Amino acid sequence: MPRTAYVNGRYLPHAKAAVHIEDRGYQFADGVYEVVPVHRGILVDEELHLDRLERSLGELRIAMPMRREALKLISRQVMRRNQLSNGFLYMQITRGVAPRDHKFPTAAKPAVVMTVRQMKPASPEKLEKGVSVITVPDIRWARRDIKSVSLLPNCLAKQQAHEAGAMEAWMVEADGRVTEGTSTNAWIVTQDNVLVTRNANQDILNGITRMALLDRIAEEGVTFEERAFTVEEARAAKEAFITSSTNYVMPVTAIDGKPVGNGHPGILTMKLREAYVSHIEGAAGGASGAEEAKTAA
Ligand code: PDD
Repeated sequence: MPRTAYVNGRYLPHAKAAVHIEDRGYQFADGVYEVVPVHRGILVDEELHLDRLERSLGELRIAMPMRREALKLISRQVMRRNQLSNGFLYMQITRGVAPRDHKFPTAAKPAVVMTVRQMKPASPEKLEKGVSVITVPDIRWARRDIKSVSLLPNCLAKQQAHEAGAMEAWMVEADGRVTEGTSTNAWIVTQDNVLVTRNANQDILNGITRMALLDRIAEEGVTFEERAFTVEEARAAKEAFITSSTNYVMPVTAIDGKPVGNGHPGILTMKLREAYVSHIEGAAGGASGAEEAKTAA
């Protein structure tokens, strides 16, 4: 089936969907985005994603291009036109089209793009083996809480991971503390079973998956610390994992080529993955898709 994209008021064949060369997203990475998981036709944690979108726009002083209800309507149209049931929705809003000039244009209208993509299911092998991460210096700006389309350091680090045979790169500050992955949040479980993930301030993106999982953790009675951890602590950890809208909860079994714990996905990690999958199932309103959800990502 041909793919359809939404671009500034029009639904276009994916191959013909284009923005103007003077779009400030293209010129200056002057824009923000969201990736929303879709499970059985339902946008998971949609309100939280839209809250974060509005917050990112506000921090950059880009106007909401339309009311939230209108964004929701378009997202449903894009999903319907692409017959998407499992995958994710991509939304991007930039400051708009204007002659190239660093300062804000006075008249530009925010530009809106929406696309969807099917999600390839994670193979059972991937879940059984877990994934590897490498650690790299975090060379990004100081406002990582804004979900900006300015992702060059993330792309460089992800490519470095790929070339090292790893799936993700954890970015590390000069003092050795891990901030997050290039497109995921980072978690560890210490040898004495304390779950640790970085507190969400301007240093990291506050993942929606992270937030949803924190709610589940409170319910499950897991011992938990919201603080930064070092690479050294991560190497000595019993378990590690990453979270994101496209990976859900994914076990990390090697860091910089060395096994984490016994080198297999951790027990708590897999329990939390199940908890997140139940959350998604709850959003989709039933248990009949549980098997697909377990392997999705
Ligand atoms: N990335 N940290 C960074 C830097 C991210 O780019 C992402 C998401 C996350 C996890 O956020 P969430 O749980 O809301 O997906 C953390 C998306 C998936 C991407 O860029 O494709």
